[in-house]
Formats: sequence, C-alpha cells, structure tokens
Amino acid sequence: MKDVLILAIESSCDETAASVVKNGREVLSNVISSQIALHTQFGGVVPEIASRKHMERINPVITQALANAKVALADITAVGVTYGPGLVGALLVGVAEAKAVAYGAKKPLVGVHHIEGHVAANFIEHKDLEPPFVCLIVSGGHTHLVIVKGYGEFEIIGRTRDDAAGEAFDKVARAVGLGYPGGPKVDKAARMGNPHAMEFPRAKVAGAPYDFSFSGLKSAVLNYVNHAKMTGDEICVPDVAASFQNAVVEALVSRTILAAKEYGHGKVAIAGGVASNTALRAAMAAACKECGLGFYYPSPVYCTDNAAMIGVAAYYEYQKGTRHGWDLNAVPNLKLGER
Ligand code: KG4
Ligand code: ZN
Repeated sequence: MKDVLILAIESSCDETAASVVKNGREVLSNVISSQIALHTQFGGVVPEIASRKHMERINPVITQALANAKVALADITAVGVTYGPGLVGALLVGVAEAKAVAYGAKKPLVGVHHIEGHVAANFIEHKDLEPPFVCLIVSGGHTHLVIVKGYGEFEIIGRTRDDAAGEAFDKVARAVGLGYPGGPKVDKAARMGNPHAMEFPRAKVAGAPYDFSFSGLKSAVLNYVNHAKMTGDEICVPDVAASFQNAVVEALVSRTILAAKEYGHGKVAIAGGVASNTALRAAMAAACKECGLGFYYPSPVYCTDNAAMIGVAAYYEYQKGTRHGWDLNAVPNLKLGER
C-alpha cells in the first residue's frame, strides 16, 4: 500500500509548528518555532504579537519540516491543520497557509481539533496503543477527562468547572514571581520544595465525581501570598509551588483512576502541556501500577504544542474520509467532538 504522508501545521497559540507524519505514527520531522522568549517580557501570550510572529515564521517552518523529512510537497498525501480551539488571529495564519499550500499543490485539506491532536500525541511513541482508553487532557485552556472510544471519537466524562489546570499553574507562577511560562517554572521550583508544607484546599464538585475545580485552590494560594506580602513575611517559593502542585496532581490522578476503574478499559493516557509535569507523570505512573492499569504518556516535546500530534490526528481523520473545503475557517471555541 502507498504511504500516507501528512504535512501538518499548528499555530493555535504561541508555537509556529510544522511536521511530516508517515502512516499516522511515524514522525519524519517536527519543527517548532517557539515564541516564548518574545512573550516573556509581557508575562503572557499577547495575541496580536503571536499572529504577527506566526506570519513571519510559518513559511520557513514548513520549508524546514519538508526538508528534514526529505520529502517534496508533491509527495504529500494531504495537508492537516489545527482550525480550533485557540486564539483566532493565531489560528487564522495556519488555516490560511494550509489552504494556500493544499490548493496550490492540489492536495486534500483536513482540519483538526487541537485537543484531538493532543490525545493523538500518545500514538507516536506507543505503537500498540489503540482506543478505547481513558485520557486526561490537561492544557492551558482545557481540563477534560474523556473516554477515547475510537480515533477522534470522545465521550467527555469530566471537565473543569472553572480554571484549566495549566491556567492555574500560570496564575500561581505569576503570583509567586516565577513568571511566564508558569507550568515548567512551578514544576522546577517544586522539586526543591516540600509538597506538604501547606495544606491547600482540594475541591470536589458535588454530584460530579469526574469534574475538577481549581479556582478555590488558586485563590487560596493567592491569599497566602498576599497575606505574606502584607505582613512582610517571606514566602518559600519552592514550598508554595510544591504544595500547590501536589493539590493539583492529587485531583487529577484521583479522578482519572476513578474513571479508569469505572469504565474499565485497563488503559490510561495523559495529554496536553501539563502532561509534561514531572510530579503528575510520577504520581499517575505509581497509581496506575498499583491498580494494574497500563499507563501511556507522550515525551514532553509531544505534550506541549507541536504539529506532529496534528499530523497523527489528521491521518486518522483522513482515513475516515474527513475533508475540508476552501471555506475552512478558524473556530476559536471549537468544541471537542464537533466538526
Ligand atoms: O498544551 P499546551 O502547550 O497549550 C495549550 O493547548 O494550552 O499547554 C500549555 C500549558 C500552559 O498552561 C503551561 O504552563 C502548561 O501547559 N505546562 C505545564 C508544564 N509544561 C507546560 N504545567 C505544569 N508542568 C509543566 N512541566
Ligand atoms: Zn495545546
């Protein structure tokens, strides 16, 4: 059978990325141009700056992805692109580019849901992983517990009622002066801290055992920091980071294991930027081992935003017959499972 080669493009937030993926699971190239340094001075992603930078970087990134994969555009089977959710101006750059490339090269266009991409990142290094399995999706904008019923088929069983896990990491990082990007900095600081130094609250959502709530925890950390500032007490940043992280990890792991036991597919995967958190990976690995569940997680580079995961998701969509027209638009609030 002829190889299926997907050229994938991702530009939903602050990474301009392109990748070539062969037959759904083999990454031939994975080029990521990060804007982190650019946004650091503003303490977070500035949407207008992100869009401009995507415009500057997208052509060189695609050229590099094709060159690294040693394939010509003519050899590509289809072009995959993230069309939502994300920042509208950022998404538009990738979508417009994908349409132009696909139209010019006479290739089919496959729009991909960004979160479907995050989940698909698990297929890259786990060649044996196939649905169904339970997946915890934790990124800057999403916290979802889902059953992956098939490729691109999800049943959402839990979600956050307020902040996303990554958002909580970013806000706490800012409050304790660690800055942007918050998640990796809290992760690093926490390694030197005591996770039981402070007992921050763990919220449960009444009647919804798989739902999350992080705003109470975030407020408790902010109150702690503000109180210390007022009284002139010095805070121990590693202890705050470790105690906060411990509360988040406990909430994420307990609900995921509960879901895995209830829905019983024997397999647990994690996805999204927060899935690269070292404490979460260690705690989930230990809990899965104890319960006899298979545990799957992508390498950190495939947890945070990248185009290889979009290429994998696009491959499975392509095989199912998903094709988008030249009227494909960016959908900033695209829901999971929506086409
Ligand atoms: O998936 P992602 O790259 O982009 C979105 O789709 O949102 O996730 C970014 C989020 C940010 O909130 C970032 O702080 C968080 O993932 N993150 C982490 C770590 N690395 C990235 N959170 C905790 N620990 C990390 N090591
Ligand atoms: Zn993402």
